Amino acid sequence: VTVHVPRDSAARSVGADEVAQALQDAAARGDFAIDVIRNGSRGMLWLEPLVEVVTPQGRVGYGPVAPEDVAGLLAAGMLDGADHPLRLGIVDELPWLARQNRVTFARVGVTDPLSTKDYVEHGGLAGLRAALELAPADVVAEVTASGLRGRGGAGFPAGIKWKTVLDCADELKFVCCNADEGDSGTFADRMVMEGDPFLLIEGMTIAAHAVGASEGYIYIRSEYPDAVATMRRAIGIAREHGWLGKGVLGSSLDFDLHVRVGAGAYICGEETSMLESLEGKRGMVRAKPPIPAIEGLFGKPTVVNNVLTLTTVPMVLAHGAKAYQDLGVGRSRGTQVFQLGGNIARGGIVETAFGITLRELVEEYGGGTHTGRPVRTVQVGGPLGAYLPTSLFDLPMDYEAFAEAGAMLGHGGVVVFDDTVDMAAQARFAMEFCAEESCGKCTPCRVGSVRGVEVIDKIVAGTHRDENLALLEDLCDLMTEGSLCAMGGLTPMPVRSALAHFPDDFLGGRRLLE
Ligand code: NAI
Ligand code: SF4
Repeated sequence: VTVHVPRDSAARSVGADEVAQALQDAAARGDFAIDVIRNGSRGMLWLEPLVEVVTPQGRVGYGPVAPEDVAGLLAAGMLDGADHPLRLGIVDELPWLARQNRVTFARVGVTDPLSTKDYVEHGGLAGLRAALELAPADVVAEVTASGLRGRGGAGFPAGIKWKTVLDCADELKFVCCNADEGDSGTFADRMVMEGDPFLLIEGMTIAAHAVGASEGYIYIRSEYPDAVATMRRAIGIAREHGWLGKGVLGSSLDFDLHVRVGAGAYICGEETSMLESLEGKRGMVRAKPPIPAIEGLFGKPTVVNNVLTLTTVPMVLAHGAKAYQDLGVGRSRGTQVFQLGGNIARGGIVETAFGITLRELVEEYGGGTHTGRPVRTVQVGGPLGAYLPTSLFDLPMDYEAFAEAGAMLGHGGVVVFDDTVDMAAQARFAMEFCAEESCGKCTPCRVGSVRGVEVIDKIVAGTHRDENLALLEDLCDLMTEGSLCAMGGLTPMPVRSALAHFPDDFLGGRRLLE
């Protein structure tokens, strides 16, 4: 009987390895015939370790399973899908999963991440094969027509970026994948790299063909050792199968890929800083222009895309731009991989078309807070994103609607806080974070963030409150307008949203509970 136990690091952090070992031990003793497969995670993180048993009816889930549950589960007939207090039902039919529209995450949790057989049987390589039949300009046109926008946070149209690189005459061009996923509460890049690494390789290879690049780099943060190891192994396997290297899949495309590991700096997620780091230098932001599409890695035209952008491309090529364009709202086409985290009952991956509301995400999928207390706010889009009150929960998840509300979708992270949160402390934290992570190149960010912490402290202490509130406003204007990159430029967003929606929290110390 085939039993799946996730190898995703979120599942491993709560004992998936020990559960897999307990199952293997039972098989080794000859008590049961079990074939353990380590899959990716389905993204229902509160159910991890989620064990899935393959039965004629489908994959039956049990979770969360502790190693000491294994003997009882086996004795109760888990291998036949039998009833048990931990039995969840047929996994694909669980409403949380069944309601989603998994495009980028279609295979994550379903397949063995490093099995080429699984990959191809589940639709892998169809996008690359289709792309290789097309001229580069036609691949770019297809990506443009799909409406796919950069998933790193800025939402810049991927096809237009690719066209800029394609139009450069240089012989040497690069494709760089930004896997420095530094936003608090985001983990989708990690999960897709651990759960479906060939998809990223396929997406980058399509990009290489589209723009004429011969070399690619995946820049992964050092905090993701499992993703680094999985990607490295997947690249080795892809080379052996002719999916990378000279003559990709028998075509004339020569393209190879390398993994580079960051060293723990948030700013290296900013694209020019990442390029500096890839070149072996300290991760300092470069002034733009020139944009990386024209002068990127080692001064050569470079596609820099986020993991989620590149892993969406194969679907676009396999099923056509229209299939992707048909999903979403307004100018936000396709699906977004939302990541629910923080103080939430059911955290994890919700991939769905743009346009879903925050309320649906937090209340229906998320089930409210983990503590059971009322939700007070959510921060969307990482540490530089706005704090939104529950009165704005009907806001549709769409780049433009969020921008109008003074917020941003960013990389799709949604971090939930209950009513014990102190919003003045959160605002202070935004400035502190900026002071800590600033690359130091420009004054508004380097000095402004330190002054920001001091001013917020004075406001909370009640020292010349009105003057200091005016000063904070002024400082936020300066940082927004005068910073060289989004780090200093967006830090005022959480600060201002906290002030606008939760002014009472700045009236001196922490709010009294109840
Ligand atoms: P940006 O708006 O300056 O640029 C977006 C992308 O479009 C860049 O790759 C840029 O080079 C490219 N681009 C701009 N004009 C172009 C043109 N004419 N032709 C071709 N390419 C062009 O935004 P930036 O500074 O790259 O990113 C800011 C965003 O990063 C924020 O909105 C935030 O959401 C996000 N962010 C994401 C984090 C994460 O962990 N994923 C962390 C922090 C911020
Ligand atoms: Fe560096 Fe901050 Fe200026 Fe960005 S805004 S260039 S992180 S000092």
